[in-house]
Amino acid sequence: MPLSAFLEPHILHQQLAHMACIGTDMLSPGRTRLALTDADKLGRDQLVAWLRELDLTIHIDAVGNIYGILEPDPLNSHLPVFLIGSHIDTVIEAGAYDGCYGVLAGIAVLRALHAAGTTPPRPVGVVAFSNEEGVRFQPDMLGSLAVAGGLSVDVVHALQATDSASYGTELARIGYAGTLIPGSIPIHEYIELHIEQGPILATLGTPIGAVHTLQGISWQRVTITGTANHAGTTPLQLRHDPAVVAAQVIADLRAYAGATESTLATVGTFTLAPNAINVIPHTATFTVDLRDPDESALLHAEAHLQSLLQQYAISEGVSVHCDVLARFSPVIFAAELVHTIQQVAAMQGIACRSMVSGAGHDAQMIARIAPSAMIFVPSREGISHSPAEHTDPAHLEAGLRVLCDVVASRLGIAI
Ligand code: GLV
Ligand code: MN
Ligand code: MN
Repeated sequence: MPLSAFLEPHILHQQLAHMACIGTDMLSPGRTRLALTDADKLGRDQLVAWLRELDLTIHIDAVGNIYGILEPDPLNSHLPVFLIGSHIDTVIEAGAYDGCYGVLAGIAVLRALHAAGTTPPRPVGVVAFSNEEGVRFQPDMLGSLAVAGGLSVDVVHALQATDSASYGTELARIGYAGTLIPGSIPIHEYIELHIEQGPILATLGTPIGAVHTLQGISWQRVTITGTANHAGTTPLQLRHDPAVVAAQVIADLRAYAGATESTLATVGTFTLAPNAINVIPHTATFTVDLRDPDESALLHAEAHLQSLLQQYAISEGVSVHCDVLARFSPVIFAAELVHTIQQVAAMQGIACRSMVSGAGHDAQMIARIAPSAMIFVPSREGISHSPAEHTDPAHLEAGLRVLCDVVASRLGIAI
């Protein structure tokens, strides 16, 4: 009998619905559980309660990553853990599935292992990584990056939030500053189940994606400094207006991306100071998110952004400064894991497409230290990072079944 026969998908649906209510309020749509806020703490508390129900060994590391581990026979407890995971922090006004689906599906697989009465041949764990979204603290995928050795605990604790709080202080405040050094739990293999967050699977009507590549990501904050002056008295030729430069760069960047094969460019935040109707601003600040599955194309896009900034800054007489907030090269996932996902989907009679991930995920960080791969399920109309995010319950269950039997297959469990 396959391990997936022991799944109880209704519990996954209940837990997703429960988590979806944490971080809601009457004033805004969706839910907002930005990393290390009170809402994130409530989500974490609920997650830990669910991990305790399954008698898992719980570890919290020094950047706040939460692990629940199903222990094997004591003789095998020293072996690296087979890890399933994702995140439970969200963007602002988020959907219900981004991240939570992977974590709660991981719990469902551990529950199936319990129900089957199987003692796994090595530890099997679920993890919720801290600050995957990167909205409040940059870089994104921070918890998994620390596990992969890409950031030290000291550097993480010193990071400043967009609201100025420090990571270390906020982590302690919500009670999730553990003592374990990130990365000290050795990982055998890592699988992340996630909604696609794009339109490919939904458009094709294909229920499962086996993700072989994750595109590169470049985040920068651009600050353009000009001269504040009176909107009614300053002739156009005497202005040093950073808003105009920002607008020119943003429009040209969109045109540039449109002319490339695969580059995406997004300006998701924009502020002017002093932000008054009759004042030429002295500062424009905006963020740029560039992505491409090809590293050389991503480098080209970054260089193009710089040349646009220089060109328009010179013609308007303003100065420009860029801060790199995150920079991750494209990642190729472990071929043997991608193959297992395809095999399991075929055995279950579910159509599966191999594909590239457009979104960033914790799996791209863990891939630095352990074989990793991802399973995608469709997102209705490709919508995500929005309260309208939706995946059909049947697709959620198909993804869970594939995940479950992939785990069983990788562990060599026969029931
Ligand atoms: C993570 O959600 C991303 O920005 O891709
Ligand atoms: Mn996610
Ligand atoms: Mn996300």
